[in-house]
Amino acid sequence: MSKNAGLHAASRNRKDEFYTRLPDIEKELRHYAGHFVDKIVFCNCDDPFESNFFKYFVLNFNKLGLKKLIAAGKESVKRNGCKPCVAEVTTVRDIEEYDRVDMEDIAGLFKNGENSLQELSGDGDFRSPESIGYLKQADIVATNPPFSLFREYVGQLMEYGKKFVIIGHQNAITYKEVFPLIKDNKVWLGMGFTGNAGFFQSPYEDVAKSSRHKEGLIRVSGVTWFTNLDLKKRHEPLLLTKTHSPSQYPRYDNRDAIDVGRTADIPRDYAGEMGVPITFLNKYCPEQFEIVKFRKGDDDKDLAINGKTPYFRILIRERRARRES
Ligand SMILES: C[S@@+](CC[C@H](N)C(=O)[O-])C[C@H]1O[C@@H](n2cnc3c(N)ncnc32)[C@H](O)[C@@H]1O
Repeated sequence: MSKNAGLHAASRNRKDEFYTRLPDIEKELRHYAGHFVDKIVFCNCDDPFESNFFKYFVLNFNKLGLKKLIAAGKESVKRNGCKPCVAEVTTVRDIEEYDRVDMEDIAGLFKNGENSLQELSGDGDFRSPESIGYLKQADIVATNPPFSLFREYVGQLMEYGKKFVIIGHQNAITYKEVFPLIKDNKVWLGMGFTGNAGFFQSPYEDVAKSSRHKEGLIRVSGVTWFTNLDLKKRHEPLLLTKTHSPSQYPRYDNRDAIDVGRTADIPRDYAGEMGVPITFLNKYCPEQFEIVKFRKGDDDKDLAINGKTPYFRILIRERRARRES
């Protein structure tokens, strides 16, 4: 089975229980700190007693200057038998020592009456009217949503015009519902996971054959962060060191464009269209590049070189070379 077979299987079999580790959330969200001032954050696939997203925002509530934090999720698989609940937090006191905080401290949040913890009347589905009611209040949504419902999940966020920072698989870039958002600069990739793979707590068996195994965790290759919150990386142009030569960059059979097999090999002097791998999006700076099209040539078939199709390509143009040509 391939390294990310667990996730593909998740999507097919609706195995959605992959819990995000606190250090991974911290590592990503520190790049967005300025966005949270005076904002309402909603974690809508998150049992407040289990979710590290909820925990992260409680721990950083004052530092980030949050106005309110809401967390709600479906019936927790871990807390078997407990009804789904919603936590609404507007005040956090006495949580200063980062390492010492555990979920019991968090339960203490609700003892003083300043914050509220209630059972949901419905099942906590992010599509339920109850959950959508909280979504409408929110400015920013942050979570790791169910992999199997990613299309619908992003669709709902876009429908309600929400800002978000969420985890998904990089294959979602190829979804017909998602790619147009990336092309039109409505959604982009965040900083990402080290080595392009995440380790998650999960009730499922780890079937991946990886040397980078971590005890008690499942390694999922190809996971990344999707967001529409601006971040510095997005405005840092890629340093281009290669020059174009027809012998090094084959042309497609079905599009007036060259194939560039590695993002690092994008030539600095080519004004036309170039096909690059989807991992290019980790380096994408919209001031430097324009995204033209995904995957297909003029005949609406996959881009091909001498009859062979490289793995999904994104057609891009470099803006400066184009201006100068
Ligand atoms: C990938 S897990 C991540 C859990 C948590 N957000 C985290 O990051 O640790 C996705 C969670 O969404 C829950 N879920 C599945 N379908 C859902 C739905 N329709 N609405 C809300 N939550 C759902 C799953 O039970 C699972 O706990």
